[in-house]
Amino acid sequence: MRKICVINQKGGVGKTTTAINLAAGLSRKNKKVLLIDLDPQGNIDTSLQVKAEGDMFDAIVGNQVVHQCISNIATNLDVITSKQSLREAEEHIAQQEKPTLFLKKMFANVNGYDFMIIDCPPSMGLLNQNALALCQEAFIPVSTDFLGYEGLKRMIEFIQKSNRKNGTDIKVSRIIPTLYDRRNRICKDTLAEIQTEFSSLCSYPVHLNSKLKEAPKYGKSIFSYAKSSTGAKDYEQLVEDTLAM
Ligand SMILES: Nc1ncnc2c1ncn2[C@@H]1O[C@H](COP(=O)(O)OP(=O)(O)OP(=O)(O)O)[C@@H](O)[C@H]1O
Ligand SMILES: [Mg+2]
Repeated sequence: MRKICVINQKGGVGKTTTAINLAAGLSRKNKKVLLIDLDPQGNIDTSLQVKAEGDMFDAIVGNQVVHQCISNIATNLDVITSKQSLREAEEHIAQQEKPTLFLKKMFANVNGYDFMIIDCPPSMGLLNQNALALCQEAFIPVSTDFLGYEGLKRMIEFIQKSNRKNGTDIKVSRIIPTLYDRRNRICKDTLAEIQTEFSSLCSYPVHLNSKLKEAPKYGKSIFSYAKSSTGAKDYEQLVEDTLAM
């Protein structure tokens, strides 16, 4: 199983959009996918209209075993949702003996998937340290603007620090330029800088596309909501790229 966290401490850069559409796209290629929301904002729950019996809070504090918190929402696509209560669960994790390894242990018996995709919160806190200890790969969505590029460097340093602390070697396997507007000078310049610095690690950009903004309102992935849109084409490319790695 490939375990990928979609992570960036910067908010609003397209992490949730990327996690949802990457997971949905992979499941449509006959890959069995578990999508996990690790953000107390609980965006996946609403964006995909999941009716869950249990969530990450229940799994972490031990109300339910993790398998009972998994909801099937489409062929090959299972989800574990989160909500505000995940903040309390984070406090529970902090009290454990090895707090950064809590989720790794919790998911040790969750098998049978080709991909685990984790949507991370915009922070460098304990939840993200757990995500990094659990996964082998990090995908970092980066908004194609000046602050996005600055944030990327800090994110990479955070991952290196986490590797040293936990004795792991999670690798940044894709940097995904997002919210790309080809008419905008800053977007073009930032994309060029990211491509120069990270060359083959940098994926094709995901263009600014209104359909990507609308899809969550209807509880759908971009492939169900607007399959001919630029957003669907861009995420299809990311899916193909991920499968080719
Ligand atoms: N390529 C895109 N084109 C247009 N809108 C987009 C695109 N990607 C994301 N958005 C919109 O931008 C907003 C932020 O995106 P998203 O929620 O995916 O970011 P995030 O990094 O998960 O945010 P947070 O840090 O708050 O979790 C949302 O309204 C989303 O619909
Ligand atoms: Mg998000």
